[in-house]
Amino acid sequence: MLKQVLILCGFLVGFFSQKYPSEGYIHFVGIHPDVRKSGLARTLYQKFFNTCLLDSRTIVKSCTAPINKLSIGFHKQMGFSIEPGNSEIDGLPITTGYLDKNDQKVLFKKILTPR
Ligand SMILES: CC(C)(COP(=O)(O)OP(=O)(O)OC[C@H]1O[C@@H](n2cnc3c(N)ncnc32)[C@H](O)[C@@H]1OP(=O)(O)O)[C@@H](O)C(=O)NCCC(=O)NCCS
Repeated sequence: MLKQVLILCGFLVGFFSQKYPSEGYIHFVGIHPDVRKSGLARTLYQKFFNTCLLDSRTIVKSCTAPINKLSIGFHKQMGFSIEPGNSEIDGLPITTGYLDKNDQKVLFKKILTPR
């Protein structure tokens, strides 16, 4: 019997903000280690940016843990700026008390240009 095996190479979880009509939010992205640095996350982000623009949303936000240097490097490369925080670690702006009082996040923001 022939078995079909599907391997998920990557995913993006994003949604439209219900509170802010001009904003979309990327909650999480994950790319299989074997296919990283091949442009897959860029493609998924671009698709989400286009979906936002179709809904007249020109701001995309995301966040990551300060320890996740990989994610910080990726978001910078994707044109996100880091929001000013209320603290800093090694010169990196950090927002403390984000989800709960012990939570720290680096907050990203990108302004989309409608075509
Ligand atoms: C971060 C992650 C999503 C990047 O995925 P990827 O498919 O390798 O990224 P891409 O190949 O699409 O890269 C897009 C751009 O970012 C750059 N980039 C990717 N990883 C990078 C890193 N660690 N540091 C700096 N730049 C990086 C690429 O060089 C590329 O730039 P270019 O197109 O100008 O050459 C992937 O490494 C991952 O799944 N990490 C684990 C999960 C995670 O940390 N998710 C983010 C938390 S929200």
